[in-house]
Amino acid sequence: MGLGAAGQDRGVGIGLLDYYAVLDGFHERLRPAVYLEIGVHEGHSLALARPGTRAIGVDPALPGSLTQPVAAELVGATSDEFFANHEPVAVDLAFIDGLHLFEQALLDFLNVERWAAPGATVLVHDCVPIDAVTSSRERTTVVWSGDVWKLLPCLRDHRPDLDIEVIDVAPTGLAVITNLDPASTVLADRYHDLLATYLPLDLELS
Ligand SMILES: C[S@@+](CC[C@H](N)C(=O)[O-])C[C@H]1O[C@@H](n2cnc3c(N)ncnc32)[C@H](O)[C@@H]1O
Repeated sequence: MGLGAAGQDRGVGIGLLDYYAVLDGFHERLRPAVYLEIGVHEGHSLALARPGTRAIGVDPALPGSLTQPVAAELVGATSDEFFANHEPVAVDLAFIDGLHLFEQALLDFLNVERWAAPGATVLVHDCVPIDAVTSSRERTTVVWSGDVWKLLPCLRDHRPDLDIEVIDVAPTGLAVITNLDPASTVLADRYHDLLATYLPLDLELS
């Protein structure tokens, strides 16, 4: 799918590099055997998975929200329920875009990492905040990234073994995380301490 057509479909300005275009590029380049998406909404991002990829989409609001034709296994559950009730699958590419709160993004990341195949890539949406209102914990705007941004300092402080790149794409950035360690228990072991440290952080935008 070209960026222009993709952007037009979703009302995004042509020429604006959005996260769909970047995600599309990851599918094209990596051709993952298994793609896991947390947070499907209407199916725009899930629809980017290629034929030949086993795509799994998890969202508690399914199936009524889908407006896109998707060739995927759809699971109508929260991500916590999904990981608790399913046998692990070796995931090559994952996209975390579910509940936009730090504590959930952290849980989603550590659970996805447990399922990571060798060489896997995890993409996390909403890591580059726009302003204080759209990145606060209370949703009052249509575009809302919540406090998912706290995941980056948390991972950088506590998981220096991860490779983390941040792509500043519209609207709220995309983190690309590789060198995953499915055996790591650092984040799970420290979960409550991490919440105590990072939940109180305030955004300082210049
Ligand atoms: C921003 S939308 C996803 C957009 C979609 N990835 C896209 O780019 O087109 C966030 C979705 O996360 C879902 N969600 C909320 N809480 C969730 C949870 N605990 N686990 C999984 N998904 C959740 C919501 O129902 C919503 O559909």
